[in-house]
Amino acid sequence: MRPFLRMSVPLRIPRPPLHIRYNHTQPQAHLRENEYASTYEISEDELPPEERHGQIEWDKTRLTFHSDGVLIHRNSQYDPTTYQRLRDNCPCPQCVDPSTRQKLRTSGSSATVKLTKAFKGFDAAGESGAHITWSDSHASFYTEAQLRDMVAFDNGRKNVSHHFRRKLWDRPTLEASNLRMKYEDVRGNAGGMLEMLRQAQVYGLVVVSGVPTERTSDKDCELRAFMEEIGEIRNTFYGQTWDVKSVVNSKNVAYTSQDLGLHMDLLYFSSPPRFQALHCLRNRVQGGSSYFADSFYAARHIQHNDPHTASILSRYPLDFEYDNDGHYLRCRHFIMNNLDSLRSHVNWSPPFQGKMRRVAPPRVPVKQAYKAEKEFYEALAKFEETLGRPDVQYEFTMKEGDLVFFDNRRVLHARREYGEGERWLKGCYLDGEVVWDRLATL
Ligand code: OGA
Ligand code: ZN
Ligand code: ZN
Repeated sequence: MRPFLRMSVPLRIPRPPLHIRYNHTQPQAHLRENEYASTYEISEDELPPEERHGQIEWDKTRLTFHSDGVLIHRNSQYDPTTYQRLRDNCPCPQCVDPSTRQKLRTSGSSATVKLTKAFKGFDAAGESGAHITWSDSHASFYTEAQLRDMVAFDNGRKNVSHHFRRKLWDRPTLEASNLRMKYEDVRGNAGGMLEMLRQAQVYGLVVVSGVPTERTSDKDCELRAFMEEIGEIRNTFYGQTWDVKSVVNSKNVAYTSQDLGLHMDLLYFSSPPRFQALHCLRNRVQGGSSYFADSFYAARHIQHNDPHTASILSRYPLDFEYDNDGHYLRCRHFIMNNLDSLRSHVNWSPPFQGKMRRVAPPRVPVKQAYKAEKEFYEALAKFEETLGRPDVQYEFTMKEGDLVFFDNRRVLHARREYGEGERWLKGCYLDGEVVWDRLATL
């Protein structure tokens, strides 16, 4: 155990309120999840020396105390942390239950707290950090690592959007990725599973071959066993697992032998499932090949090359609908928006669109209403055109034992029309959280 070091920093607090000037932009009202505090470009020098009340320094971390808060430096990044937030983030056992690891105090209870003392030192385990005492008589200790973590959340693999950043693809890019894997390398193998989920997150599509096809019942099919190794299957009115076969009087175009164009499943839900698996049990037909396209690639292409069209596609929603077989579901989604965060998505599913509603809001002059609506149709055509490009689509025919696992809110899937004979896929859905949880912890 290291001796308790007390290197007192004279702090003269409180002080009159500071007026921090930002040399860049005002902080965004809504920082997106990929934007860390490092997006602040504040130079400490902007605050006159008399407004700095002391400093604590380690090799890679520095705290500069001001009247209203502390500037935490992590290498070249800064985070202006109010004393409210610093108190709120106290990691001690009175503030965070060591067993549940959940907070024992509300954030609001830090609203009026003031710093009384701060000094460098060590905790009982010998870790270096900062001791801080507060006007509510509480004493906190923050390790250097905890202070650094406040600046930029970079907690090893736990930051999935950072460590498994999406790579948008056209066909050549997808083909150069680790698209195909063998079941024997994945099942029961943590390394193989991690690689499969990495591919599914980064590219949105992975094909696993050699998945046994003998057991076909919902209860003991290989699809269920395989997917349950990842986590819980998402249940819907189609069941936990469901069969894609051509049936007479089908209640869904998927259950026919007709051409089924690029789409996402279940957009008539407010929270459509993130991931989908389709396992090919039988394929004894002519035709019926599968094809896929990265809607993020197409959306990004339009955002870069045709911002006007991109803005229309992010402003007008589409209605998706399922009205059959004793069910009625309807949900309205915008087609595209920011593509940068873990939960970003595109909404595109032409076969499952409901009735098109008026685009222009009420009381818009007639001529303007026609114009807006016409423009919307032109924007839709441009998105279709991009998705239809042969270099954007990846096509192959599923063999019996192939299983595709894909990001249903990003990668569009489709199948061509097929002829007589038996074709049977078994499918299921997984929520994003199931996969992201595994990626963070595997
Ligand atoms: C579906 C689907 C594709 C296929 O069931 O949603 O898209 O290849 N099926 O049959
Ligand atoms: Zn505490
Ligand atoms: Zn589908």
